[in-house]
Amino acid sequence: MNVDNPVLEIRNLKKYFPRYSGIFRRKTGEVKAVDDISFKINSGETLGLVGESGCGKTTTGRTIMRDLDPTAGEIYFHDNGKVIDVVKLEGEKLREYWKKARMIFQDPYSSLNPRMTVLNIVGEPLKCLKSMSEKEIKNKVRNLLETVGLDARHAERYPFSFSGGQRQRIGIARALALDPELIVCDEPVSALDVSLQAQVINLLEELQEEFKLAYLFIAHDLGIVKHISDRIAVMYVGKLVEVTDAETLFNFPLHPYTEALLSSVPRPEADYELNAISLEGEVPDPLDRPPGCCFHPRCRYSQEICINQEPELKNYGQNEKNPHFAACHFAQEINLRNIDDF
Ligand SMILES: Nc1ncnc2c1ncn2[C@@H]1O[C@H](COP(=O)(O)OP(=O)(O)OP(=O)(O)O)[C@@H](O)[C@H]1O
Ligand code: SF4
Ligand SMILES: [Mg+2]
Repeated sequence: MNVDNPVLEIRNLKKYFPRYSGIFRRKTGEVKAVDDISFKINSGETLGLVGESGCGKTTTGRTIMRDLDPTAGEIYFHDNGKVIDVVKLEGEKLREYWKKARMIFQDPYSSLNPRMTVLNIVGEPLKCLKSMSEKEIKNKVRNLLETVGLDARHAERYPFSFSGGQRQRIGIARALALDPELIVCDEPVSALDVSLQAQVINLLEELQEEFKLAYLFIAHDLGIVKHISDRIAVMYVGKLVEVTDAETLFNFPLHPYTEALLSSVPRPEADYELNAISLEGEVPDPLDRPPGCCFHPRCRYSQEICINQEPELKNYGQNEKNPHFAACHFAQEINLRNIDDF
């Protein structure tokens, strides 16, 4: 998708968390959970955001939602030709933004209040943000439940009487209640069985088509975002290391971290265990990021320069319409394997 019609733009976004220690709880450092990232999401488009645990995906999503305040950077939301400076929003204006941008979460068990009926869970945003009568809310909730493939007659039931997949559908219905334009999907299928994952992803794709939704789709695994994403951003310790369209990323990766992630995409037909590139060690602590390219301690192509100099995120795309950003000193020299090589 090359149409330049952004619904969301983030520029040089940073979110640092102070770390306190000692008996006086003095500030002793900063966790750079999100460190200077920029991207945009076009209207109706899905941007996949992928990386291992702790690399800053959820923090990115929560900062975009203004659930967390950014340490620095800009967030712009485009609403019918108007550009909204999200960082500056407060009070009623922020609540207006929360109608247009919603978030769904990984865990369909803890994200739904067990003491509320489905009617109240899905209807809650309607009560808080719009002046609708009880009857109108009930009708709208019933329609929403049917839209996500649930039985509208079960609206009076509590979350415990639904399966994991059904609960995730309830979370999706709640996110849709206010006719949003953007949904941040934070690992929405990671807690589900493989068979249910495809169903929920198909549902999200159908809803995207029907309501022209844009998604920021967060996942650990490139396999999960492969079909749903138009473009993919790969994140490592708070930074973006590669961003391009999904097809190019799978077929012509430019960053060794992407190559390693591609090698571990589950393929039922292949014994991928034998081929997977094993990444030695853990993701570094963002409090104590390695110098130079912070992937260097785990990179099989690392050279002297990688330890001393941080690579910039540069565009190696063939033309402006099809950018291919990567942050590796040797992006043009090393010949990485693609999805079919494992
Ligand atoms: N509220 C917080 N206070 C302090 N540190 C935090 C906070 N939230 C996240 N972090 C730290 O920020 C870093 C990024 O965390 P984040 O949850 O964004 O990662 P993630 O990519 O979503 O991981 P996962 O795949 O496990 O969900 C981690 O080191 C985490 O410990
Ligand atoms: S800059 Fe060096 S260490 Fe970093 S990914 Fe490229 S080759 Fe590996
Ligand atoms: Mg997360």
